[in-house]
Amino acid sequence: MSVHIAAKKGDIAKIVLQPGDPLRAKYIADNFLTDVKLVSKTRNVFYFTGLYKGKEVSVGASGMGIPSIGIYSYELFTEFDVDTIIRIGTCGGYSTDLKVYDLLNVEFAASESTYAKYSWEIEGDLISHQGNAFGLLNDTAKELDLNIKSTTIHTSDVFYRKNPGQVDIVKKYNCSAVEMEAFALFANAQYLGKNAATILTVSDIIPTGDEITADQRETALTPMIELALETAIK
Ligand code: HPA
Repeated sequence: MSVHIAAKKGDIAKIVLQPGDPLRAKYIADNFLTDVKLVSKTRNVFYFTGLYKGKEVSVGASGMGIPSIGIYSYELFTEFDVDTIIRIGTCGGYSTDLKVYDLLNVEFAASESTYAKYSWEIEGDLISHQGNAFGLLNDTAKELDLNIKSTTIHTSDVFYRKNPGQVDIVKKYNCSAVEMEAFALFANAQYLGKNAATILTVSDIIPTGDEITADQRETALTPMIELALETAIK
């Protein structure tokens, strides 16, 4: 048992899918896994372990933002011997080159956050995906005939800001989209020598205000969920 995840050792699979939202974790467990066990419900951040096509997979939320995913991913890697975390999230597109429903595989996360520096003395504002999960996701997407773009994204500490189009780091790395977690997940995995990937469905286009509605979200995320699960059993 860890501070924020009440599961027993051995109750969590070697590979974990991590959406931001606890109810999305439940939706995945209910609709895609069999033989499901609820292994932690501390703070209503549910973790489930079940089978996908006969192979053990866990799914549980990261919560929103760098501090939250920093805590959950660290405890999964260190207390439960998890080898691989695949974050499955949504992002806002910075340009009209992207469309809602587009699927991104995060090659690098750029951030103004001090998380990596003050946790693990990792210098710099750009961190790569870690290990083989990124490549496996691209291979699996090809097999499933799914379009996925490898890209550099911005992991932001703020959701609301005055000038979303005028962020220095976004210009520095030509970031295609923004979310709030990948940088911390990659930093933890780099420090601990683990595998971490982030795939994102574009849920909104910032300059136009185009967005996937709350009603559309469940079905909109199905290709990303299936891609993560098919990759997880490889
Ligand atoms: N900003 C930050 N995170 C997000 C966004 C956004 O516009 N959309 C989805 N996740």
